[in-house]
Amino acid sequence: MQYRTIKFNHGVLKLIDQRKLPLELRYYEARNYKEVESAIASMVIRGAPAIGAAAAYGVYLAAFEYRDLPRETFLAKVLEADTELAKARPTAVNLSWAIKKMERVLDNNQNETIDTILTALLNEADKIAEQDIETNMAMARYGNEIVPEKAAILTHCNAGALATVDYGTALGVIRKAHYSGKKITVYADETRPRLQGARLTAFELVEEGIPATLIADSAAATLLRDGKIDLVLVGADRIAANGDTANKIGTYMLSEIASKYRIPFYIVAPTSTIDFNISSGEEIAIEERSPEEITKIQGVRIAPEGINVYNPAFDVTPAENITGIITEKGIIHPPLAAGINSLKNEKGVMKN
Ligand code: MRU
Repeated sequence: MQYRTIKFNHGVLKLIDQRKLPLELRYYEARNYKEVESAIASMVIRGAPAIGAAAAYGVYLAAFEYRDLPRETFLAKVLEADTELAKARPTAVNLSWAIKKMERVLDNNQNETIDTILTALLNEADKIAEQDIETNMAMARYGNEIVPEKAAILTHCNAGALATVDYGTALGVIRKAHYSGKKITVYADETRPRLQGARLTAFELVEEGIPATLIADSAAATLLRDGKIDLVLVGADRIAANGDTANKIGTYMLSEIASKYRIPFYIVAPTSTIDFNISSGEEIAIEERSPEEITKIQGVRIAPEGINVYNPAFDVTPAENITGIITEKGIIHPPLAAGINSLKNEKGVMKN
């Protein structure tokens, strides 16, 4: 994308404010960890890899804020801030993955001077951000191998540059296929309630001139049944050891229909989205968000006062509906549990 989702300059974390897109492109500025926590919780920044990278800078900002305290208090206060940041959103495991990476650096440097600790933390946050882009590029290369020369691709929510530091996961594969000359067209689900498809995915696709059509979520089943879709590509927020995958609400429904009509259904996610500690999707905490996301659209009330609302932000797609998981280490094919298990033993993959 033309604009980077996350930037850190001179002590200020700049995040594209995704609540305002596509009408306004504006950066939200966080100067301390509480502002980072609030940006994640209020979805200024969203998407699993993006919230991980933002939280890493949040840990650095906490350390900077507490730099003048006695060492023991400093370390305790940073860990306290980490706990708060980790609670900002419960489903995407990239959040705790990034915070744990930062805590490891803190731990390894705890006897160093505070200045050395701060430098090490900032370097680690920068590394997490830069590696996210490299990881996305690697996923795009692997993913492009399964995209036919001519294909209609369905995607859900936003797994693009805006959901990462840059380039994207599922949308990264789409970008790569497009720029490598394949004749692809994208169907983007609008993705109620927060409309990440209509507001963010459509924004990215239009900006880059990638042929795309926006559909209501409820139109996807008809397209899948009628042979209009060759491939489904979506991102992930947490993948269990058996391959069960949490992603934006509505993903499970798509996977059931794709599976019924034998349409390839791939998850595109970095290994940092795999939670090796949980055996199945039943253990994934599903975030429930405010009823107002359902009773209102962009702040305008559409449902009567007094109606009950159920608003889970994610659902779990069972492993058996997934054709493969495209990671930066390669594509995991079924049985997914075996592929995930061999990754677990691989050097260079940090376990959550
Ligand atoms: O609630 P959101 O917008 O943070 O949900 C985002 C998704 O569900 C994405 O598909 C997922 O995080 C993968 S992003 C590369």
